[in-house]
Amino acid sequence: MNETLKTINNRVSLRWYDKKKISSEHMDKIIESAISAPTAGNMVMYSIIHIQNKETMEKLAISCDDQPFIKAASDILIFVADFKKWNDYFKDEGMYKEGNRKIGKAEMILAFEDAMIASENAVIAGESLNIGSCYIGDILENCEYHKELLNLPEYTIPIGMLTFGYYPEDYKRIKRKRFDKEFVVFKEKYKELDKEEIKTMFKLKEDEFNSKESNKGKRFVEAFYNRKTNSDFMENFETSIDEWFKNWK
Ligand SMILES: Cc1cc2nc3c(=O)[nH]c(=O)nc-3n(C[C@H](O)[C@H](O)[C@H](O)COP(=O)(O)O)c2cc1C
Repeated sequence: MNETLKTINNRVSLRWYDKKKISSEHMDKIIESAISAPTAGNMVMYSIIHIQNKETMEKLAISCDDQPFIKAASDILIFVADFKKWNDYFKDEGMYKEGNRKIGKAEMILAFEDAMIASENAVIAGESLNIGSCYIGDILENCEYHKELLNLPEYTIPIGMLTFGYYPEDYKRIKRKRFDKEFVVFKEKYKELDKEEIKTMFKLKEDEFNSKESNKGKRFVEAFYNRKTNSDFMENFETSIDEWFKNWK
């Protein structure tokens, strides 16, 4: 395996960090790598908010579903899908004449793609420097709170957040299994899986779940569905997503 493939395949989500702060040289490399990612029409429809302030990290650790490891990170990058700057430019330069199209959902989706592609470049760049990271989806929760905390105007949505820190010495990486490739990669056209195939696909998760003594007598599907999809947490998350969409108008 070459170094790039090793870096990609070695990566795990890191939630324990070495106490050492990430050097500014390394953070610059991570940010430069993010910015060099592909971007639709070379429009760079995102902004990156670099957080080093411990107080802000402490606030995020609480507001992002109470995950204390967030405040132990050395640095945090928040990837904001952002059409505010282009929108202001178009407006200021008189492009929004009667009858002209204004921005909409198409730009929003492209901005999401731009921001997330850039974020994964940051992850891989970090990994190559022995810096681990973890995505935090919960930055999309608590819309009003995060909007204020980060000073986010209209046409911005914080689509991704990453915590960063050096791997602790002798850290044992545990690679989490993925579904078998046959259920994820289809040849030429999408393949709808039949009932049997769906059963086989999820057996991996069920076996993992059943291997734990504490799960004796429980069903994976029920435990997972109730913990995630059917939870109050996801209900609130959904409300927050509606709020973010309103921010894009
Ligand atoms: C969009 C997204 C949101 C995530 N949010 C969280 C999170 O809030 N907290 C957390 O500990 N991990 C979070 N993760 C990390 C996943 O749990 C992790 O990627 C997954 O379990 C697979 O493990 P691995 O990254 O070590 O391969 C998130 C990952 C993604 C892609």
